[in-house]
Amino acid sequence: MKCRRCREPAVIDIRRHNAAFCGPCFLHHCREQVRRAIDDYAMFGADERVLVAVSGGKDSLALWDILLGLGYHADGLYVGLGIGEYSDASGEHARAFAGERQARLVEVDIPAEYGFDIPGAAVATHRVPCSACGLSKGHLFNKAALDRGYVLGTGHNVDDEAAVLFGSVLRWGAEFLSRQHPVLRASDGFARKVKPLIRLGERETAAYCVLRGIDYIVEECPNAVGNKHLGYKEQLNAIEEQSPGTKAAFYFGFLDRVSSLFSPPAGSGPADLRPCASCGAPTTSPVCAFCSLAARAGAR
Ligand code: AMP
Ligand code: FES
Ligand code: ZN
Repeated sequence: MKCRRCREPAVIDIRRHNAAFCGPCFLHHCREQVRRAIDDYAMFGADERVLVAVSGGKDSLALWDILLGLGYHADGLYVGLGIGEYSDASGEHARAFAGERQARLVEVDIPAEYGFDIPGAAVATHRVPCSACGLSKGHLFNKAALDRGYVLGTGHNVDDEAAVLFGSVLRWGAEFLSRQHPVLRASDGFARKVKPLIRLGERETAAYCVLRGIDYIVEECPNAVGNKHLGYKEQLNAIEEQSPGTKAAFYFGFLDRVSSLFSPPAGSGPADLRPCASCGAPTTSPVCAFCSLAARAGAR
């Protein structure tokens, strides 16, 4: 197997591209995929500051590394969720990465700052943990980016996006389909949100980290084990195994040819948004979902 770019011996093959790469050319490939995603979807310009939400995992650390390598002003955001040892270890990986590069890491710790943790919130509200977690992350990512004037970047890759799309299509969740885009525009109370890794798969981000010597947390969130999202990923992987390229075709075909059918008409933001009585975030209820979760979870 030879590298597609330089004909040296290859270290990784990517079946959906029908290509193999040596180490240096693979790193170049990853940066190119991110550069193209940023350009193709006009995610942000050279003069904008990006806040990369980092979980300590392979995707978000690879993203942060690539954005720094491409010369962007990229800082990190780590949210402490209070999920026992998993959170301790994931925070340490994020801090170690930032320390090695002398990069800025913004930290928000839910137990310390809001007085509850995700497992406790899940019990108090009879939600599954990942639901309380997703709600809290969404709120805190937005707040951190908005308060500090950043574009918010997450490490979602093509495997993540295809799995979410698969789940939404199975139930024809029109509201979710209308929000499934690699760029969500800023609007009153909402920071712009971008997903620059959509052209890379998780095998690629893992290989990128190994080749770059990035020490990431390998374990998944313990609460995610057995959830629907991971099940959809497995199903799609089985299809991909038989027919490489199907996953990317499914996702990019949706973006290119179908997603506009689900988009809300321009200018029509969510109806009746007003500021949360407690924190000021836009909401359709008197108190936003995060503040009411915090109240029910016994926050101070
Ligand atoms: P997940 O929701 O775990 O699939 O993660 C999706 C993306 O959210 C990751 O790629 C990260 O960019 C971000 N993320 C997940 N967990 C955290 C965290 N604890 N702190 C900051 N960002 C996170
Ligand atoms: Fe956060 Fe599962 S509880 S991802
Ligand atoms: Zn609120």
